[in-house]
Amino acid sequence: MPPRKKPTPSAPASAETYDGESLRARVASATAEATAATVTGEDDQRLDLTLRPKSLDEYVGQDEHRDNLKVFVTAARKRRRPLDHVLISGPPGLGKTTLALILANELGVNAHTTSGPAIEHKGALAGLLTKLESRDLLFIDEIHRLSAVVEENLYPAMEDFKIDLVTGDGPHATTIPLNLQPFTLIGATTRTGLLTGPLQTRFGIILRLDFYSAEQLARIVRRNAVLLGTGIDDDAALEIARRSRGTPRIANRLLRRAWDFAEVAGLPSIDLATARIALDRMGVDRAGLDEMDRRLLRVLIEYYDGGPTGIETLAAATAEPRDTLEDVYEPYLLREGFLARTPRGRVATRRAYEHLGIAAPKHAMGSGLVAGLPQGTLFE
Ligand SMILES: Nc1ncnc2c1ncn2[C@@H]1O[C@H](COP(=O)(O)OP(=O)(O)O)[C@@H](O)[C@H]1O
Ligand SMILES: [Mg+2]
Repeated sequence: MPPRKKPTPSAPASAETYDGESLRARVASATAEATAATVTGEDDQRLDLTLRPKSLDEYVGQDEHRDNLKVFVTAARKRRRPLDHVLISGPPGLGKTTLALILANELGVNAHTTSGPAIEHKGALAGLLTKLESRDLLFIDEIHRLSAVVEENLYPAMEDFKIDLVTGDGPHATTIPLNLQPFTLIGATTRTGLLTGPLQTRFGIILRLDFYSAEQLARIVRRNAVLLGTGIDDDAALEIARRSRGTPRIANRLLRRAWDFAEVAGLPSIDLATARIALDRMGVDRAGLDEMDRRLLRVLIEYYDGGPTGIETLAAATAEPRDTLEDVYEPYLLREGFLARTPRGRVATRRAYEHLGIAAPKHAMGSGLVAGLPQGTLFE
């Protein structure tokens, strides 16, 4: 990987590294692997893949995890042993898939990717596992959605690199134990709490990804503007970063929209005014909340007097699946203190009332209560 030029505001794309041709080539190769994502459109998904960092050094933020992984990767390479199994958790768009693919790159091994629901039976699992070469990496996205049978068959594979193949039916069925090549399993999930205990304990490395700071997201935005071939002013990058819900995937999407607006306006680079217009048009407000965030808070306040209200009730009232509320919307609202979780249900905080311009009742919870929660509890 050649050293990246530090992008300067309004600078055109550096010709040798990010010319249009190589970008188009990256887009084309990425198209094939584009997977369904709930947060972005098809075009943006392709773009996501193009902008995906390829090495740990390019991976912004999550510093502690990154530093530890560098050590683990170096040790594994030296010993010529597979990396320990890794579990990565965190809300959508924080870089789980990106990190898994980077690990394969850094280890210099093949990455085989699949997802929990795609492994329909144990035969499919055996098929995947027997294809792995020594030290290869198997990435299972949404690993919490593995069926119980498949999950049980995964245990011996993870622990002893062994799997039982069953041939024949009923009384004629025979089990053939099969040795597998030593491999690394990387599982991704939105919340570690969704995993069964036995599965979780079989991972040697557990990484909980955290939301990104505005400064980190601004770095990502500036780098990706260069990759896209547009300039961006520092204050415009920071504005996009601040309003991206702490999430790189959202920052990428908003950058792209701002780029559209700049392009149509005939601007050579994205300035603050253009970024603001794009963000406002996208329905992203000053706090970075989008339409759905506001709707969730509004329903809670206007229909349920600010709560406490159960998550099922909120799901029904907003016509969103419970999982989407819990995985996509709640973590950020909790973290930013718009929402609080109590034993009796979800509660809108004073900050939520203020943000929506609704007079808060006396009993409204101050956001101070939520801000004191330890990080880990948000995603459990
Ligand atoms: N640490 C990071 N540094 C730079 N870009 C990132 C980082 N994490 C994620 N991204 C960007 O965000 C996009 C979405 O990340 P992804 O790994 O697909 O998220 P997840 O799998 O957690 O839903 C990636 O394509 C990449 O462009
Ligand atoms: Mg992913």
